[in-house]
Amino acid sequence: MSGHEGHEWWQSAVLYEIYPRSFKDTTGDGVGDLQGIVEKLDYLSDTLGVDAIWICPFYPSPMADFGYDVASYRDVDPMFGDLETFDRLVARAHESGLKVIIDFVPNHTSDQHPWFIESRSSRDNPRREWYVWRDPKPDGSPPNNWLSVFGGSAWELDEHTGQYYLHSFLKEQPDLDWRNPAVKEAMFDNMRFWLDRGVDGFRVDAVLFSMKDPDERVNPPNTEGLQQLHKPLGAYGAQRHVHDQGHPDIHGVFRQMREVLEEYEPPRTSLAELHIFDPKQLAAYYGGDLDELHMPTNFGLLKAPWSAAGIRGAVEGLEAAIPKPGALNWVLGSHDDRRLATRLGEDASRQAAVLLLTLRGSPTLYYGDELGMREAEIPPGRQQDPWGMAEPELGRDGCRTPMQWSADPGAGFTDSPEPWLPVGRDYAERNVEAQLADPDSLLNLYRRLLQLRRGSAALRRGAYRTVGGVPRDCYAFARSESLERVFVAINFSAAPLCFEATGVSGRIAVSTHRGNEGTEVSGSLRLQPHEGVVLV
Ligand code: NOJ
Repeated sequence: MSGHEGHEWWQSAVLYEIYPRSFKDTTGDGVGDLQGIVEKLDYLSDTLGVDAIWICPFYPSPMADFGYDVASYRDVDPMFGDLETFDRLVARAHESGLKVIIDFVPNHTSDQHPWFIESRSSRDNPRREWYVWRDPKPDGSPPNNWLSVFGGSAWELDEHTGQYYLHSFLKEQPDLDWRNPAVKEAMFDNMRFWLDRGVDGFRVDAVLFSMKDPDERVNPPNTEGLQQLHKPLGAYGAQRHVHDQGHPDIHGVFRQMREVLEEYEPPRTSLAELHIFDPKQLAAYYGGDLDELHMPTNFGLLKAPWSAAGIRGAVEGLEAAIPKPGALNWVLGSHDDRRLATRLGEDASRQAAVLLLTLRGSPTLYYGDELGMREAEIPPGRQQDPWGMAEPELGRDGCRTPMQWSADPGAGFTDSPEPWLPVGRDYAERNVEAQLADPDSLLNLYRRLLQLRRGSAALRRGAYRTVGGVPRDCYAFARSESLERVFVAINFSAAPLCFEATGVSGRIAVSTHRGNEGTEVSGSLRLQPHEGVVLV
């Protein structure tokens, strides 16, 4: 990482997202664990060469939403290990030069969290006000029209106390009331618990949901067909979610959260999940004085058409809107989205590698995307994701299958004959071992790009400039820092392109088409179909 004055590590770190259930199982129960991550740190820091890992939830949980339903914020679920293993993970990661970001789930707990068990026990329990309890309407129906992201009303009636509680996700995930100062303080203390253990930051889950309209007004219908997530959202998408999330009071929470992160030396960071597609609106979450979120996630590339104009537009929009030196974040895959290689195809997976690792900012790389892992077909009866069971086309099991390490049974992920989700059908050919041995593999392309990025100040912290005057199907940009300049060009078409452009000169340091690497270019550039190149 740079250590360059005024440039923080997270402003250009390559973040690798680990879904711990699926990364590496060391106990033979078919579910990945923290020790598995420890054993694969060398892969991450040396073989691949990323800068930081983001670990999805590993807290004690009934696993209704696979860990996003937290039953204790200060422990490790025995399925994943224990606090001692976690401490070892952090220490070993730091020794290897990797930063550690962990998921933090502020909006909701599990319904098995002791706070909620107390809260639902009676109307006058002191924890009642920690969650959002409301009386039914006179006809007994829910208090308003708010919906759960996962389907149905966001209100669940508790027969015992006769009131509804709010859950923006599953009914097993009741929403905390962040307007209650005691909740806020308790949650900030939970963050400190992990900060004291040395974590470098948090990926903050579903963060906009933490502030709703205090008057709980009904959501209007989505008559303009506004897309509110990067994927279509069934019945949920039929409303405009203007009152059940994202109330402007959220900015106060972000400023306070930042203060907590800055109590530490060096200050810690936040990568926060937001689904905001208008770059100007996204900019607001950095804070007027860059005093709110460090890295609001940017899902814009998932929504943009995969074409030169589509991607260029998404990048330029963000570059123009985000106040410098705010860190841009880039996402092309996650545990909530269909696999990149399935969505875009083989050629685009290689272009995506070039794009992600050369744009200005902090890309997140989802485990297995460096191998081009495909969305898996999950046989009936093996489905796990509650969302997929309610709305099959939105299911997330297919992108969460075990990491494909080798051609061994269980893909080198587990010794269990029955991993929690089946391994991808192509694991015998598509795995880390096989791709390391193949110089032309996607994994080796990622490795070359990461190595180049590490040694290049221009790629890590240099300014971005779109290069004009290139053919319509080509997207080209330059990154520069002091005298160092890097030129990137991606051909989005299935035909070769040859063009002249000012300043296009240098050596092809990395190409999606390895055979072209090392070629010296001066004044005019020839690109193979779907080729992406980085010139230094
Ligand atoms: C967003 C997470 O990424 C997703 O996996 C989870 O189901 C919801 N938030 C609820 O916590």
